[in-house]
Amino acid sequence: MILKNSNTLRALVIPFRILKSISRKSKLRVYFNLFLMIISSISEALSVLSITNVISQLQSNSTNEFELLDRRISFSNLLGYELNPIFIFIFIVSFSSFLRIFTLWYSGKTAAKVGNEVSRNIFFKIIYWPYERHLNTNSGTLIATLTQFSKTAVGSINNFLFIINSLFISTALSISLIKVNGRISIFLILILIFSYSTNSSLVRNHIRKNSETMKRETLNTFKIVKESLEGIKDVIINDRRSEEIKYFQSKDKILKNTVVNAKFTSTYPKYLFESLLIIGLLLIIYFLNNDENSINNLSQLSIFAFGGQKLLPSIQQIYASVTAIKHSESKTESLLEILEENLKSRTSNHKKTNNRSPAKPYKILFKDKLELNSIYFKYQNSQSYSVKDFNLTIKRGDFIAIMGPSGAGKTTIIDIIMGLIKPESGFIKVDGKFIYKDNTFLNLKEWQQSITHVPQNVYLLDKTIKQNIILNDKYNKFSEKSLREVCNVACLNEFINKLPNGIETKVGERGSLLSGGQIQRIGIARAIINKSPLLVLDEATSALDQNIEEKLLKNVKNYCADSAIIMITHRKESASICNRLIEIEKDLN
Ligand SMILES: Nc1ncnc2c1ncn2[C@@H]1O[C@H](COP(=O)(O)OP(=O)(O)O)[C@@H](O)[C@H]1O
Ligand SMILES: [Mg+2]
Repeated sequence: MILKNSNTLRALVIPFRILKSISRKSKLRVYFNLFLMIISSISEALSVLSITNVISQLQSNSTNEFELLDRRISFSNLLGYELNPIFIFIFIVSFSSFLRIFTLWYSGKTAAKVGNEVSRNIFFKIIYWPYERHLNTNSGTLIATLTQFSKTAVGSINNFLFIINSLFISTALSISLIKVNGRISIFLILILIFSYSTNSSLVRNHIRKNSETMKRETLNTFKIVKESLEGIKDVIINDRRSEEIKYFQSKDKILKNTVVNAKFTSTYPKYLFESLLIIGLLLIIYFLNNDENSINNLSQLSIFAFGGQKLLPSIQQIYASVTAIKHSESKTESLLEILEENLKSRTSNHKKTNNRSPAKPYKILFKDKLELNSIYFKYQNSQSYSVKDFNLTIKRGDFIAIMGPSGAGKTTIIDIIMGLIKPESGFIKVDGKFIYKDNTFLNLKEWQQSITHVPQNVYLLDKTIKQNIILNDKYNKFSEKSLREVCNVACLNEFINKLPNGIETKVGERGSLLSGGQIQRIGIARAIINKSPLLVLDEATSALDQNIEEKLLKNVKNYCADSAIIMITHRKESASICNRLIEIEKDLN
């Protein structure tokens, strides 16, 4: 009856959708968990049965004909001799509570394992998205999905296990109670189920709205914190702090209220129906009471009090868990959207990539020349072409400068060369082999492995200068000598020598403890230590003063004499070091 509305059904399918995405090993764990639950619910039912024996034992003299005595005898006959029902009861109750505790612990572990796998899979999917998709997605949303929404996925699995567990327990308990007294039990069970399902349909819309609000405001609070902290300089200078706090507080208030609301909605029926159950029970006993059987009724009352006190929490747990899954539905849904995306060949390709041993680097392409032929590119939301009929041939050893007004498409061109975005038409060849044609990149991994790129905003990790320089050295090839060399080439030595911890100094989050020029020089040191065949510098020296820039570029030219270098720059002086200059005009159409 609880399952009567499609809303509930849809919510109950969610855990299965999550389970579908996990490994066989974890699924087996979930099955073992279910097995534990079945055993624990059987022992739970036995504990109710055994108390019937205890009670009848306590009254054994006056109720010889009491039917439950028969059950005690058969129960004890199993062991070949008669045991005191009190001992049986103590044993079963202790065993059953131990088992329930163990099952509770194991369920938590299972949920954590499943949750960990889900988070990992989500992160895997997101990080393997094509670059273009990242361009169009707010990273705050993704962080919230990964950290917050994956928690709700763990919650859903946990709740799913709770539901199954409680279903077993309540069924087993119901059967034992029905055996004691069919009429009273069925009446009681119907009261409970009817109350819970009525309540369920009353709060249905409320829950759905809550669920949507929870998702929306979680995303909002994440965005506010992320954006205000990323722009903290601006926030301080323009004194936007109190506005940011007010904005955050207003969103967070809604969120906190919804969370409390959700908790209340899933808990209050317990107290309501507890009293309903006791009143119902008393009324039944009162109306069914016929004098000659009053002691029987008294013993049944205690059995029902004990059984009902166990049955109600189980049914309450089913309701609370279903409600919790419904509350997290919107959040889990957006997580599942990512998780269930079928990346087909992409995923399998990347799985292979994943398992590749780090000891085996990819084969490096680009021994001779790179050709771009008639490349056209338009951004998804854009009307006009950012790159139009672009042609370029670069040989190893070339040092090319690309100049042009901002917005002319320089960064777009190198993103295309690096295989981050797909051109609409044209082709790219390396050493005569296609890297891009007919809307597909070929040998992309090998190609990307042959390139090093320094963006204008170098991304530093909150680690030491040394760790930041050797960041991309997956194969542990660097030596102290090459480290010294690249620091020298990138004109870092003077600056590093002044630091108390030298190259082991931490740079702060995103290099917050360094100047723009220092960050760029670390970025360049990081890039050239690989000695890749193609080095791309996208306004990578813009924050340096002219003297240092000239010196650095000359150093780089000598150090990477064997590579091809593409440098985007706004300065004529730095372009003069290059042996070719390409000027890009801004297309005004
Ligand atoms: N993600 C994007 N979506 C839509 N348009 C973009 C995107 N990135 C850049 N553009 C547009 O493409 C053009 C070229 O940009 P870009 O290559 O970054 O120029 P620049 O020469 O300054 O490096 C610009 O007009 C810019 O507005
Ligand atoms: Mg640019």
